[in-house]
Amino acid sequence: MTGPDYAGYLRLERLLSLQEPLSPPDDGAATGSAELFFIVAHQTSELWLTQVLHDLDAATETLVCTDGRAAPDGIELALEHLHRAVAVMGLLEDTVRLLERLPVQRFAVFRARLGSASGAQSRNFHELEVRLGTADEGESPLYRAFLKALAARGTGVGEICRLGASGAGAAHRMAEALLDLGYRFWRWKVAHLVLVDRTLGGLSGTGGTTGAPYLLTRVRIPFPELRSAREGLHRHEPGT
Ligand code: HEM
Repeated sequence: MTGPDYAGYLRLERLLSLQEPLSPPDDGAATGSAELFFIVAHQTSELWLTQVLHDLDAATETLVCTDGRAAPDGIELALEHLHRAVAVMGLLEDTVRLLERLPVQRFAVFRARLGSASGAQSRNFHELEVRLGTADEGESPLYRAFLKALAARGTGVGEICRLGASGAGAAHRMAEALLDLGYRFWRWKVAHLVLVDRTLGGLSGTGGTTGAPYLLTRVRIPFPELRSAREGLHRHEPGT
């Protein structure tokens, strides 16, 4: 059999040499383990973010042909990517919750060694906000592609929300998947805010912000237009 073995295919030697706590042995084994936990949680989050970005871009490209027109089977094909991205966003949230098992007294020992390193500098996370339309760069390209795909079918979000699962099929499933994605992202932000508040209290962040108060201002829910289209369902007149 040719081809790489398990360790070769996954580049394990390189991957598993990248967890390097800065705590010296003098700080004790418990501090070393806690810092390893902190590093692994961040590194796995970055890896999962890479996967989410890949799937969101693939979903966007699947919706729109290279000539800019909506692809005929785009919505059905994009759903595979979106459903995976939603599931992985859940893992990101779980990872933040897992970090509640980082004892504050251990974190306090190695935190000073982090310098100005902060999750706020995560390029992957910023790219995710661009994809979801919560960054200052403007609206979500994925949502824009979805609207284009709906327009090519002669419909829009208001109508597919009204038609529901039985009337709008895959288009409705896609709208629901986008909502799931947006809410998973929101839940990550809230879980992270809780983690920061319980870990740091009123202390400021290594990235130079006020910490929890700053993060509270950063909690945004993506796809506002889709959410308000669903609100419209409550304006249904009885008997119509
Ligand atoms: C004990 C664990 C953690 C603490 C104490 C913490 C603390 C903070 C603080 C205080 C900020 C505000 C910026 C600053 O001044 O530094 C921040 C931002 C951020 N952190 Fe964390 N964090 C933790 C875990 C994580 C994890 C696991 C990730 C996953 C990648 C992450 C990603 C981010 C991101 C993306 C931001 C920017 C959020 C935004 O602008 O809305 N953090 N973090």
